[in-house]
Amino acid sequence: MKLEPFRLERFFAQHEFSAPYLLCASDCESMALKDLLAFAPSAQERFLSLRLGYTESSGDPALRQAAAALYEIISADHVLVHAGAEEAIFNFMHVALNARDHVIVHGPCYQSLAEVAQSIGAEVSEWRGDPACGWKLDLEVLRTLLTPRTKVVVVNFPHNPTGFLPGPEFLHALSALSEQHGFIIFSDEVYRGLELDPSNRLPAAADINDRAVSLGVMSKTFGLAGLRIGWVATRNAHIYNDMAAFKDYTTICNSAPSEFLATIALQNADKIAQRNIRIIHNNLDHLDRFFINHADLFQWCRPKAGSVAFPVLRKGTVDAFCTDLVEKAGILLLPGTLYNDGSNAFRVGFGRKNVPEILSKFDAYLKKTNFGALPRKKSWNHENRNI
Ligand SMILES: Cc1ncc(COP(=O)(O)O)c(C=O)c1O
Repeated sequence: MKLEPFRLERFFAQHEFSAPYLLCASDCESMALKDLLAFAPSAQERFLSLRLGYTESSGDPALRQAAAALYEIISADHVLVHAGAEEAIFNFMHVALNARDHVIVHGPCYQSLAEVAQSIGAEVSEWRGDPACGWKLDLEVLRTLLTPRTKVVVVNFPHNPTGFLPGPEFLHALSALSEQHGFIIFSDEVYRGLELDPSNRLPAAADINDRAVSLGVMSKTFGLAGLRIGWVATRNAHIYNDMAAFKDYTTICNSAPSEFLATIALQNADKIAQRNIRIIHNNLDHLDRFFINHADLFQWCRPKAGSVAFPVLRKGTVDAFCTDLVEKAGILLLPGTLYNDGSNAFRVGFGRKNVPEILSKFDAYLKKTNFGALPRKKSWNHENRNI
């Protein structure tokens, strides 16, 4: 197994805690421990008397119950808790795939969704959204990518980095295709619950398809990345049992304090998500105004869900632009090249409270520099390629 460096995470390792203004974070505003404990009566007392021994390897029953409440059909027995979404991705790929299996991954993608499969020796094809069409995915394109060896199709809605969210009919059609063809849907739903209009929330793949695997986490919608708690939800007993056994070689079980805190958060999931959606609404209004004022430099499309989007820089190159911005103004954006994307786009994140403050600094930087004088990019570069 040979894993290539995770470009985005290496970039964050370099800048996340030194750049003063993060305008590309994908998580929502976090909260202090005392504020989380205040959600439940006597939680502080219970937290202080928590025993710090090993925990149940599949996850604390109360936590699994609270996670199951986010789904329609999924019950606590279908939830397997992991150390963040990242461990769950790693473990899923290892149990679902063998060398020479074929995997199709929604692109551009959060790198581990393709990289882990590739490191196992699986063949990975990119099912790329169309940048000229709001990064929409086309099922007809998926049909052309499918082979008899296709074991898994990976999707991510709401999508990191583009914010793309299809309608429910799309997910049902994908589910029907999975039944027909026999592939497993691995549905990364870590931004689920951040729909600006709740009627746009997609059903969870694990609710509508009994072999699909839905991925959830505390980091994004709930702003609690430091807990390192994620989970898979699936009615696929084969995958569930294999993942439970595989976990004995990665983390065995989860951190007791984190499980306790994640349970309180999920028992108050609506309140926390609503707070974060209010922050996102306000930030998107500021972003709309910012991008209208700089329409000559950026192409912006307001997303319907999630905490990230992928505007395009119309002039100059995105790598040089992002480097200059962090060096001169301390503002961090993620160049799309970290996603192996050639459309001159960058990831902007708007789940945190300080976005309006950062945008006014960004505005001041643009007024001082001559980026507006750079030649305009001629066209999209959206060749279809394997990842
Ligand atoms: C689409 C997607 N999946 C999985 C993850 C991993 O989440 P975590 O860091 O909470 O494990 C991320 C994190 O950015 C993500 O954006």
